[in-house]
Parts: sequence; C-alpha cells; structure tokens
Amino acid sequence: MEQLEIKGGHALKGSVRISGAKNAALPMLAATLLAQGMFRLRDVPSLEDVNTFIRLLEELGFTFDAGEDNQLAIDSSGLSSHEAPYELVRMMRASVLVLGPLVARLGKARVALPGGCAIGARPIDFHLKGLELMGAKLTLKEGYVDARARRLSGARIYFDIPSVTATENLMMAACLANGKTVLENAAREPEVVALGQMLQEMGANIRGLGTETVVIEGVRELKPVDWKIIPDRIEAGTYLMAVGAAGGQLILENVVPSHLEAIIGKLREAGLSIDVLDETTVKVRKRGRLKSVDVKTLPYPGFPTDLQAQIMVLMANAGGLSVITETIFENRFMHVAELRRLGADIRVEGRSAIVRGVPSLTGAPVMATDLRASACLVLAGLAAKGKTTVAGLNHLNRGYERMDEKLREAGARIRYVTA
Ligand code: EPZ
Repeated sequence: MEQLEIKGGHALKGSVRISGAKNAALPMLAATLLAQGMFRLRDVPSLEDVNTFIRLLEELGFTFDAGEDNQLAIDSSGLSSHEAPYELVRMMRASVLVLGPLVARLGKARVALPGGCAIGARPIDFHLKGLELMGAKLTLKEGYVDARARRLSGARIYFDIPSVTATENLMMAACLANGKTVLENAAREPEVVALGQMLQEMGANIRGLGTETVVIEGVRELKPVDWKIIPDRIEAGTYLMAVGAAGGQLILENVVPSHLEAIIGKLREAGLSIDVLDETTVKVRKRGRLKSVDVKTLPYPGFPTDLQAQIMVLMANAGGLSVITETIFENRFMHVAELRRLGADIRVEGRSAIVRGVPSLTGAPVMATDLRASACLVLAGLAAKGKTTVAGLNHLNRGYERMDEKLREAGARIRYVTA
C-alpha cells in the first residue's frame, strides 16, 4: 500500500506551475457530447478523475489521442451509447455530468445514480428536477436513472442551493433545447463560467454567465472547438497554504488572481504575505507565526469549501482561536480526527470546528478520507515536527497532479514509500 512519507520542518522555496482545473476539465469533457467531430482541449490536468471521465466517454463511443504537453484530441463522432455504467459513476460522481448532454443530443440517457460520498449525501435531485421541468421523462430503477425526451424544451429552473454541477448539467442540456431556459440562483464558480464560454464558442446562446441568473436560448446544433482549460484555483490555494504550513516562499505560475480573491484576502488576514506579480503569477511568503482567523465556506465568490480542510492546518498552528464553519457539505470534518493525531486542538460543534492554535504539530501516521482531506494531511506533514506518513492516497491523485514532485522540487522532504 503506497503512502507518502513527509519530514516536516523544511521551508519551501522556488516556483510551482499550477495545472488546468479538474472541476473545469470534467464538465468540458462532458460538453464534447453536445457536438459531433474533433475537439481539442489544452492544459488538461493528468488526474485520475480525468482518466475516469475519458474512459466513460470511450464507453459511449468516443476516441481520444493524448498529445504532448497536456493536450487532448477528442473525436465525438463515434457516439453510440447512452449509458453511464455504475462501476464508473461509483468511482466519480462527476460522471452525472453526461446526463444532460446525452438527453439533449440523443434524446435518452441511462446513468447510474451516484452513491453518497465521504463528505455528504450529495443528492442529484436538482439535476433530475431540472430535466423534468425541461420535459424529460425520468424513471429510477435498479440504481439507474433513465431519462427520455424527444426534444427538451426551455424552462425556468430555480436552484434551492447554487449547485455547481446541477448548473453545468442543465446549462448544457438547455443549449440544444427548444426555446429559452432561465437558471435562477445558478452557481457562479469560474469553472461554470469557463464551461459557458466554451459552449458559446461552440455556438450556444448563453447570457448572464457569472451571475445568479443564466439565460440560454436553445439552438439546433453546436460545433466542436479547440479550447484551453482554466488554471485550478483550488490547487493554487492549496500551494499558497503549503507555504503557510511549511514556511518559506513560493512563486505560483499559471494562476488567475481574480479567481483567488477570497482565498488571498483570508490568508493575508492570517498574516501571509501575498503579492500578485502579474496577471498569471502570485508570490507568497510566510513571515512568522500566523494569526487565528475565522473562516466560513460559501458558494463562489466566497471562501471555497474545497480549501476548508487545508486552511484548518494553518489555524492548528496559529496564535489564537479560529472558528471554521462549513456551510456547503454536512460532513466535511473527517480530517479533524486525523489532525488531532498530529497534536491539533480542534473541537467540532455542529457545522463549526473550533481550532485552538498550538505551538507545533508532531508527525504521526494518518489516513486520508477524501480528496481535499488528503491534501490537508500532506500540508500538516509539512508543518509537523518529525515524520508523518499519509495513507489513503488514492484520493490525492484524483485531484492533484504530481503533488509530491511539485513539493519536492520546492524543497519539501516528501516521498512515496510502500507500507
Ligand atoms: C462541485 O461539486 C465540485 N465538484 C466539488 O468539488 C465542490 O466541493 C462543490 O461543487 C462545491 O463547490 C465538481 O465540480 C466536479 P454542489 P457538486 O452541487 O456540484 C447540495 C472537489 O474536491 N445539492 O455545488 O457536487 C449538495 O449536497 C469536489 O473537487 C443537492 O442537495 O456540489 C451540497 O450540499 C468535492 N442537490 C450543495 O448542494 C443537488 O442536486 C452544493 O453541492 C445538488 C447539490
């Protein structure tokens, strides 16, 4: 069983190139279902979740040609199936993103219902309700949702919660529907906006991207495009916080500073020195012990839930009391028990974790439970005195490209070992 062994106490120095965003790449791969022909995606991150999505599209009849430097040629003309099998959906919930495009393109889809996951129940009721409002007939049986519609019709859809993938799924479905669709209380994440811009390039008629009301006028046909994936703001935030954990300084290349405003604001409040050097480069430096700050996760442009576990590591060593409130997922504090093993003083009260800073963490064996928790435990290993081993790494490689190499090149003592 592979584990990461980290020897803490070594400050970081150097630069890190941020990869393309996982949560932009996945919906963009789904969008290739909407048009027939050759697509090219650039800056595709080499991640397990991306490989799983490629396998899913191959099951549906696509062919792929991976070029050099993270380019991917996609031929969607072989689309010949409308079924997303359980064994793939079980591995990656984002597989549900093929549902809207398949119904829009083929008039039918059969997609396994994603199970729950470590961080919460994560239902897909908004996705299903939206498709029904657009005229799809849904039947749920044997753990699959079967959706049929001769042609979807535009509809007015209100999201109780600004769901990222529900907004993406229904925005894609609406592109080929008959008439106008209005998505209200839509998600505003940069990955949603980037998907919408790719769809516009494909010929879709979309207005209001980045606001809570997105309006889509359906068209008859879309065309394939050549498209670059935006940088991963969650990976960028993770490396900003790696300096907060380990000390030293890093230059982050290939970032979009405007996507990082809530993150940079909060980290500056905690005492990290962060400079935006130009429109794609940020420099971060740690000067002494961080201050405890309160954090509340919110939909974009608020502080992202996907960085909640990581900032908790910084607060574990900060000089005071920090209240971290998770408003998006109902069970996203599994990393707390692991951080306690490293000496952190954290108490969970409902949806808040009360973090009392301690002078330092001490290394120990820990187990990752989900993708962002595994990144948090790597950061904790950088901060802790002595040796930390992180198990449960299948999660890490789903969402972080070569994290051990990027950190090692910046001076971290980190390597894979076989337990
Ligand atoms: C996306 O998940 C991201 N994944 C998640 O990143 C991210 O944490 C999340 O958005 C929030 O920002 C991808 O983009 C592939 P939601 P998603 O629908 O779309 C509830 C990572 O680590 N909800 O915005 O599944 C849901 O339970 C992953 O990269 C419903 O109730 O999240 C949650 O409480 C983790 N019914 C809230 O809404 C629905 O139909 C927000 O979920 C859909 C969602």
